[in-house]
Amino acid sequence: MIIGSISENLNEEKRVAITPDIVKKYISLGLDLHLSKDYAVHLGIKDEVYEAEGANISTTEKIISNSNALLQMNILSDKNLDMLKKDQILIGVLNPYINEKKLKEITSKNINCFSLELLPRITRAQSMDILSSQANLAGYKAVIDSFSYFKKAIPMMMTAAGTISAAKVLVVGAGVAGLQAIATAKRMGAIVFATDVRLASKEQVESLGGKFLIVEGSENLETEGGYAKEASEDFKSKQEELLKETLKKIDIVICTALIPGKKAPVIIKKDMIEIMSNGSVIYDLAAAQGGNSELTEVDKIIDSNGVKIMGESNILNKLPLSASNLFSKNMFNFLNNLYDKDNKDFKINLEDEIIEKTIIK
Ligand code: NAI
Repeated sequence: MIIGSISENLNEEKRVAITPDIVKKYISLGLDLHLSKDYAVHLGIKDEVYEAEGANISTTEKIISNSNALLQMNILSDKNLDMLKKDQILIGVLNPYINEKKLKEITSKNINCFSLELLPRITRAQSMDILSSQANLAGYKAVIDSFSYFKKAIPMMMTAAGTISAAKVLVVGAGVAGLQAIATAKRMGAIVFATDVRLASKEQVESLGGKFLIVEGSENLETEGGYAKEASEDFKSKQEELLKETLKKIDIVICTALIPGKKAPVIIKKDMIEIMSNGSVIYDLAAAQGGNSELTEVDKIIDSNGVKIMGESNILNKLPLSASNLFSKNMFNFLNNLYDKDNKDFKINLEDEIIEKTIIK
């Protein structure tokens, strides 16, 4: 059986689905691994490094036509999708809501597509959970990036020349990215506040040393799957009042609030940004989903009366090596579950919740 992976569109994606440390794991399953030329050269990894681990370097065309399973970060280009044939498998972050039409076309040719962002949040799938591994890094990097744009020191410093007060950070959305943002900001000496619609996150925020801002009289807006529900108008106006008061003293806001399959909620409105101090920074990790701040523009730094609003479309391109290392392990664990070692074939067992939830039907 041949496993293949080809170069991504480097203008949009710097991460790769297979890092050298994982190659031997595929080979120990009895699989051949084929990668396209200069696969991870942009990350400083030469083809020889992959070859030394046992991978083969080949052309894109040969890899697409010979592979039983193609492992990618993103969906293939239209030209490459056209080359796929019946019974081949494509695994990646295929963005089924955006790529619905393309995925319909290829699945109608009996090509099996698996999209890893659809993985269920169950214990058995934790080692495959790309949303968690990538969001965790995104939360960390958003803090590092925003701190580098902030023109003051972060921790409190008492010096002979006077005292510098600690920076105050607000994290909006305390899921995986938000919790890592809280932990990173605390480690650097900031005073951290956080808010979420899920009340379960209060304890997690507090265990990291953050102060949880609770919207008074609100119900717990959590689905059975642990995700957020869309907030009511009443909740939104109470949240707005609470944040307006808080933002007067906040230096840096890290936005991470998302609702699966929907546009991100707009939480930091224009009039709230107006009351923030000159020099404050808003880092909007939800930019690609529409943004949590009303003024966010994707891949731009907006200056609104001295408040900088930053929205990266793919912050993971700023730490592509760490992101690829974790993604590559998630990918291997997913494939390992799909591969039937006894029969040396892929087994699409729809009774397995992991397979059933991720396959594009
Ligand atoms: P996400 O990326 O979908 O959303 C980020 C955060 O934004 C969430 O905490 C959400 O409640 C919050 N949010 C949404 N609307 C908001 C609003 N209007 N105001 C404030 N906050 C808002 O969430 P993520 O990080 O993927 O986590 C979702 C859930 O999955 C969590 O309960 C988490 O604990 C759980 N989880 C479970 C895992 C498992 O394997 N059991 C692994 C990872 C996460």
